Amino acid sequence: MTSSTSSLAGARVVVIGGSSGIGKAVAARAAGAGARVHIGSRSADRLAQAAKEIDGATTGVVDVRDEESLRAFFATVDGLDHLVVCPGDMAVGSVYEVSLDHVRAALDTKIVGQLLTVRHAGKKITPGGSVTLIAGAAGFKAYPDMSATAAANAGIAGMGRSLALELAPIRVNVVVGGLIDTPLWSFLPDDAREGLFAQTAQSSPVARVGRPDDVAVSVQHLMENTFVTGAVVHVDGGGTL
Ligand SMILES: NC(=O)c1ccc[n+]([C@@H]2O[C@H](COP(=O)([O-])OP(=O)(O)OC[C@H]3O[C@@H](n4cnc5c(N)ncnc54)[C@H](OP(=O)(O)O)[C@@H]3O)[C@@H](O)[C@H]2O)c1
Repeated sequence: MTSSTSSLAGARVVVIGGSSGIGKAVAARAAGAGARVHIGSRSADRLAQAAKEIDGATTGVVDVRDEESLRAFFATVDGLDHLVVCPGDMAVGSVYEVSLDHVRAALDTKIVGQLLTVRHAGKKITPGGSVTLIAGAAGFKAYPDMSATAAANAGIAGMGRSLALELAPIRVNVVVGGLIDTPLWSFLPDDAREGLFAQTAQSSPVARVGRPDDVAVSVQHLMENTFVTGAVVHVDGGGTL
């Protein structure tokens, strides 16, 4: 017998990086499934806007690069069932030219930030609950000028698999997104971004770039399916083939 009620109904879901892009789509999906959603990111304005869009969502300001900020954020969270960590950043540029500040910021946000988020949330997650980390295809397919971003994304996958053993019976999974149309790409001039998206769609087996909800639906599955842990799930339209 099947039930149409999601196990997320009534669950407490915290999404770090939940005010934009993939994280906001995850938060909206979880809220739609009946979860109580709490989202965190750095900008109070972006959080306020997201809270208007996501039914019942509560918010808190947090910067994953700052351990005190994470400690304060999770001090306001009594307990949770699912944690999704997707703070966005990337360092793009030739190894000879990319600024060290950008490299450090990207690694701090994506590697150290995800690890510290788990450190401060982990003991509050109910057994059988889950952690989902978000990585990107650059860690699994080589692109020029993406060495720091590749290192960060490959690192997240290794981190997730190790945490899956360490945190059991809390489940830990990683979703590896392909190119997803989110504000993360707004650093590119419009014509360069459109060109990149068109070229990526053209070479993709599914002939399009991703939407935030393409990733969110897989994150929802990983939160709900209690038999999946240590998985690295690629959601990239076959782009890494
Ligand atoms: N878009 C893609 O093509 C793609 C593909 C694969 C993987 N990814 C990964 O997926 C994750 C989400 O990316 P996205 O495309 O959804 O990006 P996005 O639309 O730019 O959203 C990033 C979110 O992270 C928050 N954030 C950034 N730095 C933070 C920090 N230090 N502390 C706390 N929150 C922070 C942002 O809010 P504030 O600015 O308010 O902090 C925002 O809510 C990233 O790790 C990204 O690398 C993206």
